[in-house]
Amino acid sequence: MINNSTYRLYGRTKGRKKKNNDQSFLKIKLKELDKKKLNIIDIGSGFGESTIKLAKDNKKKIIISCEKYIDGLNCLFRKSQEELLDNIYIYQGNVHQMIDEYCSENSLYEVWILFPDPWPKKKHLKRRLINKSFFMKINKYLKSGALIHIASDSKSYVSQILKTIHLIKEDFEWLNQVKSEWNYNSEILPATKYYKKALENGLNPFFVKLRKL
Ligand SMILES: C[S@@+](CC[C@H](N)C(=O)[O-])C[C@H]1O[C@@H](n2cnc3c(N)ncnc32)[C@H](O)[C@@H]1O
Repeated sequence: MINNSTYRLYGRTKGRKKKNNDQSFLKIKLKELDKKKLNIIDIGSGFGESTIKLAKDNKKKIIISCEKYIDGLNCLFRKSQEELLDNIYIYQGNVHQMIDEYCSENSLYEVWILFPDPWPKKKHLKRRLINKSFFMKINKYLKSGALIHIASDSKSYVSQILKTIHLIKEDFEWLNQVKSEWNYNSEILPATKYYKKALENGLNPFFVKLRKL
């Protein structure tokens, strides 16, 4: 049964400094996803650096930014206007709700999850987005051969992600299994706020690329 708590999300919705009720980002609202189009979702897009890069690199594809943080979405909206990008849609809220409400089967071409919230405390581990049930849920919405890109700088989350990859190996192939391909290379991948933060903290982000079988 779906109720108010089904899509509850932890963490911040607005910035601390100012009261921000500006929802101008909603001008680029998410439409029902068209199966015939090549739809790419950027889950937890933060301030939108990744969505902008994906939109510029894939002008003929649709990029869906899924994020609950309003200040980040406003920032993305401003940048998309400045760059005259018309292939971005925005969904403000939980990706689980977005999938339930807007995705049809075989509609997703690529999924990006860059630096998902690590929730390091043991009592919060259940809040992590990436686990077997997430892959099982998203699987039917992915086109055959769809790619999933994940990056994290949290050792314990990376270890959980690797265990999960093992559990889902019948459905997803791990493409970059060679150690030299695990590094997050910002020349190819978007240099997001949390990627830069990881570097400042002397961490070496880990990058995983999977393909739906
Ligand atoms: C650590 S930040 C990373 C932001 C950005 N990807 C980056 O690399 O700078 C994680 C973001 O994911 C968003 N988020 C967490 N869980 C989510 C969910 N279930 N659906 C949509 N967004 C989510 C949070 O609001 C937060 O902005």
